[in-house]
Formats: sequence, structure tokens, C-alpha cells
Amino acid sequence: MTTNETPAAAVVDERGVADVQAIRRCFPALERRHEGLPVAYFDGPGGTQVPRAVVEAVTDYLLHHNANTHWAFPTSVETDAILDGARGALADLLNAAPDEIAFGANMTTLTFHVARALGRGWGPGDTIVVTELDHHANVDPWRALERERGVTVRAVAVRPEAGRLDEDDLERALALRPKLLAIGAASNALGTITDVRRVAQRAREAGALVFVDAVHYAPHALVDVRALGCDLLACSAYKFYGPHVGVLYGRRDLLAGLDVPKLTPAPDEPPGRLETGTQCHEGIAGAGAAVDFLASLAPGAPSRRAALEAVFDALHERGRGLLERLWRGLEAVPGVTLHGPPVWTHL
Ligand SMILES: Cc1ncc(COP(=O)(O)O)c(C=O)c1O
Repeated sequence: MTTNETPAAAVVDERGVADVQAIRRCFPALERRHEGLPVAYFDGPGGTQVPRAVVEAVTDYLLHHNANTHWAFPTSVETDAILDGARGALADLLNAAPDEIAFGANMTTLTFHVARALGRGWGPGDTIVVTELDHHANVDPWRALERERGVTVRAVAVRPEAGRLDEDDLERALALRPKLLAIGAASNALGTITDVRRVAQRAREAGALVFVDAVHYAPHALVDVRALGCDLLACSAYKFYGPHVGVLYGRRDLLAGLDVPKLTPAPDEPPGRLETGTQCHEGIAGAGAAVDFLASLAPGAPSRRAALEAVFDALHERGRGLLERLWRGLEAVPGVTLHGPPVWTHL
């Protein structure tokens, strides 16, 4: 495949999704050899490899449109359009509205930012619930409020033998009527997928806001913030074939009212009020291109969201088979211990 060809030109399966070989050809990293052998990249937490189309979007921005935002000269107008386009693409990925999408350095930075903003309204007597199954990035920003605001942070236990959250302990934590539940959709350590939709409903009934860490989940399942019923959700484009850029979804009315640390001249409206300083424009262009790349794998779909639905379904189905084979193969190796639930059973 040359750089001008798109996966849309590829052979598609019965769902209309590009076949594996066509997708592989989009990733120069898959041509790598190590000691003469082809490589497989198993470092899931390290992120995904990047297709040519994403790299081209990044270089095209830097070579031809590089400017700051909101001026009347051509490259600035083009920058605004590229950033708006990327926001629209990420909104489609998460089933949100474009003005509910804020960009930032990474998920960790965005989470510290949002936690600090929310924490300005909380103090002693207020509780935040985190979990032992979560990545530090969805625990430490909330723990920082213990020191800064005097709130109490309660951690929900994990059942180590199952690699899942202890449901009874979660109920006990929600009975404290916390201000917020910080929960991960998928664990990057064990692969455990938590039923965020159900947990979010329980949290709402307890009067809590719900912040979802979808960093490890977003590459594997199509996020739907409306269906999940969350107030805030963060993910990272480098986990779904994009550059190192963080993405935050926030319910519009919540973002509009947040007492967010910001400079006086920065926009007052969401999502701009969440975005501190000059953003990584080229990275944001690449994040949008990553969504478009995924959508391009289902060339006949009627909309970008419909394409993403078809693609995530198909990639899942294909991945599930590979994962089961890997799991069973590792299980058969003497001395190897597998931790966590066999994830293909609950994808
Ligand atoms: C589940 C999970 N949450 C949060 C993070 C942190 O994301 P970022 O690197 O964008 O700060 C990671 C990174 O590996 C992760 O796997």
C-alpha cells in the first residue's frame, strides 16, 4: 500500500470492515524485524503503534498550517478548523457533543486538573471513592484533595482471586454518599472490565458524580458516554493509534460551571475553559486522524459513528480469538501463572 492509498481500498469482510492484511499494511512499525524475525508488540500499557495516516496528519499540520488559534490569517483559520474537526471526531468516538471534549497533555494531567477544580468546592466531611483496581492516574489526583482540601478518600477493595472489584465493598463505600466515584472501565494491569454502566447508576443513586478512566478501555470497546451515564471520562489517544494527547469528556453543564484554574484571557465557555495554555495542535490533529483512520476501515458505513461501531465490533471479534489462543497457550507453559479474569469471556 502506498501512502496515498487508504484502507477503504482494501478487501472487506462480511461486516464491511477491512481485512487484517490491509490494516497491517497501514502500520510501518509492523515491518520491523528483531534478529531476523517479525515482531509483535505486547506492551499494551505502552500504547498502540501508529498508522501512516495519523503521522501524515501530524506532519501536514506542522508543515502547512502551523499557527496559534483564533486569528484571521490563513494558517490560524486552518488551525481552528483542524482543531474543530478533531473535536468532532473525538465527540463521535465517545458519543458526546464537540463542546464536551477538551484536550490536554495526557489523561493524568487532565485528571489532576479536573480534580483540583472539583475539589475547590469540597472540604472536610466530603468523601471521594476510588478503587484498588484503578491506575494511579485515577487515584492520586483524588488523593491529592485529602491534603489540599481535607476530604476523605475511600478505596474500594479488589477480590484478588477474581481480579475484580469487591461489589459489597463498593456498596459500603457508596453508602457514605460520596461526592464522586472515580472508576476505571478497564484495568491495564489485569485486563478486568468493570460494568461501568451499572456501577455509574448505583453511584448516581447515591448522589455521586462519576469520573471514568477509559484509557485502557477505549482501544477495545466503543465508548458511549451517554449509555455509560458518566459525568466525566478521560482517555488517551496514544492508546488508540494516535499521538500522545489526552482527551477529556465532560457533561456540558458540569464543564460550564466548574471552578477550573484558568488564565483571565482564556475562554470562559467549555471546552476552551478546560484547556490550559497552548495545546499540542499537531497531536490533536493526529488524534482526530486516528478516529478517522478507524472509521475508514468500514468504508461503506453511513456515518462516522456507524463506521466506528462496525469496526470496533469486528476488531473485537478478531481480537477475542487471538486473545483466547494466547491465554490458553500461556496456561499450558509450566511455571506460568495467569492473573485476572480471562478477558475474552466478558468483552
Ligand atoms: C488504565 C490507565 N489509566 C490511566 C493511564 C494514564 O494515562 P496517561 O498516560 O495518558 O496519563 C494509563 C496509562 O497507561 C492507563 O493504562
